[in-house]
Amino acid sequence: MGLSFELTSPTRIIFGNGAFENVPALAAGLGNNVLLVTGGSQRFSQELCISLEEKGLRTQIFAIGSEPKTENISEAVRLCRKQECNVIVGLGGGSAIDAAKAIAAMATNPGELTNYLEVIGQNKPITEKPLPCIAIPTTAGTGSEVTKNAVIKSVGHSVKVSLRSEMMYPKIAVIDPQLSMQMSPELTAFTGIDALTHLLETFVSASLNPFLDMICSDGLTRISGFLESAFLNGNDLEARENMAFAAMLGGIALANGKLGAVHGFAGPLGGMFPAPHGAVCACLLPAVMKVNIETLQNHGNTEKLERFRRLAVILTGNENSTPEDGTNWIENLVKKLQVPSLSALNVTRESFSILAEKAKVASSMKGNPVLLNDLQLLKILDLSVHF
Ligand SMILES: [Fe+2]
Repeated sequence: MGLSFELTSPTRIIFGNGAFENVPALAAGLGNNVLLVTGGSQRFSQELCISLEEKGLRTQIFAIGSEPKTENISEAVRLCRKQECNVIVGLGGGSAIDAAKAIAAMATNPGELTNYLEVIGQNKPITEKPLPCIAIPTTAGTGSEVTKNAVIKSVGHSVKVSLRSEMMYPKIAVIDPQLSMQMSPELTAFTGIDALTHLLETFVSASLNPFLDMICSDGLTRISGFLESAFLNGNDLEARENMAFAAMLGGIALANGKLGAVHGFAGPLGGMFPAPHGAVCACLLPAVMKVNIETLQNHGNTEKLERFRRLAVILTGNENSTPEDGTNWIENLVKKLQVPSLSALNVTRESFSILAEKAKVASSMKGNPVLLNDLQLLKILDLSVHF
């Protein structure tokens, strides 16, 4: 890897305990009429709404539900235009923040949302500058606060796809680790594994560059040290801080690099089954690692295998680790975090061939360190279901 790279991370990041208190002043610097987008949970939204109004900002709340669907975004855009909102604030997990980013973009761009979506739409480019958006994560997972895409579910197509543009980075990310202390152990596990997967897939992908290497190494070290602690003790602030930091690094990594087969499958799987994204990633990750390592060994690709060995060293803290030790470490972690299996998430064998077909054309699949054939894709699903 020569010293040559490109990195974009235009979001102003305000990170630290208590950072949430700055939101009204930050919003006031961007406009006077706020659309506050929340997810399934309404945590902190009333509190924020009151403090925004105290600052003299008109505030509308739009609750997006557990995951943004194309029709939710269109409904919110209509409200946003009607109320002439000029600042969008996303408060919650990835769903709320992705929705906020998509609403901010569609509020200023003409036509239907589906025209702008990748895979199922025409991938039409966003041409008008989106409304300014403040992203406030209450989980530590997606990293959406620093990325340029929004994952949206199309019920008609049974798939989750991205709306993506260089203009969609939030203007400001306010990352207050204290907000994540209220997450349940289950949500901590799912979101934490999502962050881990972003860092891990970028770390072994062909898109890695020296800057992303540094970011991913640091993020993976923090997750290997702190995810289990955050799961076991939600009030462990040091663990929450490290997870919030790692999730943000994962976001920078995925915005600038490419992911891999785990996320290649996660889009179609999440579209066809109502399973949490992080749980899906957790089930797929050990199987994808196994099949990738096995294929690289068959190809004699020592350079890419060395990436998996380095990954294992970071995760285990043992300099003598083999690539397989990394897979075992992940497998153990997923067990310790009590993630349900794909079969417990009601993913059926009958869906395997269609899942493999859809995964092949998913944008994330391009980042996988090796091109996987149909048999290998089916093997991943088979191993994941057993897991
Ligand atoms: Fe993800």
